[in-house]
Amino acid sequence: MKKFFAYFIPILLAYAVGFLGSYIQGEALVEWYPFLVKSPYSPPAIAFPIAWSILYLLIGISAGTMLAKGDVSVLRLWILQLLLNFLWSVMFFALRSPFLGLLCILALDVAVFAYIVYTAGRRPAAAWLFVPYMLWLIFATYLNGYIYINNQKSRSAVAMTISSPKFSLPILPYSADALEPIMSKETIDYHYGKHFKTYIDNTNRLIAGTPYEAMTLEEIVENSDGVLFNNAAQSLNHQIYFEGITPVQKVIPERLRKRIIHDFGSIDNFNKQFIDTATGLFGSGWVWLAEDSNGKLSILPTKDADNPIRHELNPLMCIDVWEHAYYLDYKNRRADFVKEYMNLIDWDKALARSKYN
Ligand SMILES: [Fe+2]
Repeated sequence: MKKFFAYFIPILLAYAVGFLGSYIQGEALVEWYPFLVKSPYSPPAIAFPIAWSILYLLIGISAGTMLAKGDVSVLRLWILQLLLNFLWSVMFFALRSPFLGLLCILALDVAVFAYIVYTAGRRPAAAWLFVPYMLWLIFATYLNGYIYINNQKSRSAVAMTISSPKFSLPILPYSADALEPIMSKETIDYHYGKHFKTYIDNTNRLIAGTPYEAMTLEEIVENSDGVLFNNAAQSLNHQIYFEGITPVQKVIPERLRKRIIHDFGSIDNFNKQFIDTATGLFGSGWVWLAEDSNGKLSILPTKDADNPIRHELNPLMCIDVWEHAYYLDYKNRRADFVKEYMNLIDWDKALARSKYN
């Protein structure tokens, strides 16, 4: 029984630290990490939980091997490396500091190496079980270091151009609480003040010193890919979104009304199709009312940061169905958000965006 606990407790501790670490990574993994400049050798995201699950098991068994033989001398070193492992998650993801993360992971490398050296002379099996962990940590140190060095360069570029960034957060044509109760001030504060702003800041940082600096936001969206496309397109998408809503309920201008009836059969048909598409879009994305080069209207769902201009369509109006757009007010009830959102659409702005008005 003692032997069972000697193995069980360290394995449990290792997994507890792992789960706690991944819990605090939460928002950063969605809002910050995907937009960092990363090494071309970064494995796909799915590799991380798989690798950590195996490694935590191995390091738990390693400590168990020591404890089962009654050798508790190395326990402090084992706990130290576990604490440094957790601290790395806090520094890198919670504080979003690749520099502090790098310091932590370097200290972790030393602690793990010391553990291997210490156990090698006592229980070689315990040392060998730590070797895959050491190798993975060396690779993770490289990935962290790459992120620190490459994003550091971009940050100094921002510091140099901070006084005159190319794109700025548009001023909202309404107060932050004006859309309540359909959209709360808290949602506006986060969605407009943090998410939208981050996309614009990232775009400015990424274009600094590149040919993209001479382009309009639309041109960048048309011509970029990867991290820059994600941030520039999200900047454009949110601009259309926040400019396209209003606390003053608007009727659809007659010219646009006729076109909607012509292309969708009736306003009710259009509303139903738009609501159904926005409710049914799987995952994160947008649903658009767009027009083609002949002025024909269509409803276009797009994934992630995609925008109609990448499909040779002109966007007139949109709804953001990323969870950050509605979760504070509607939790998981996206359908309710979409239905209420229809009352916020500024149809004058939609018509103004049309090339056929
Ligand atoms: Fe959004």
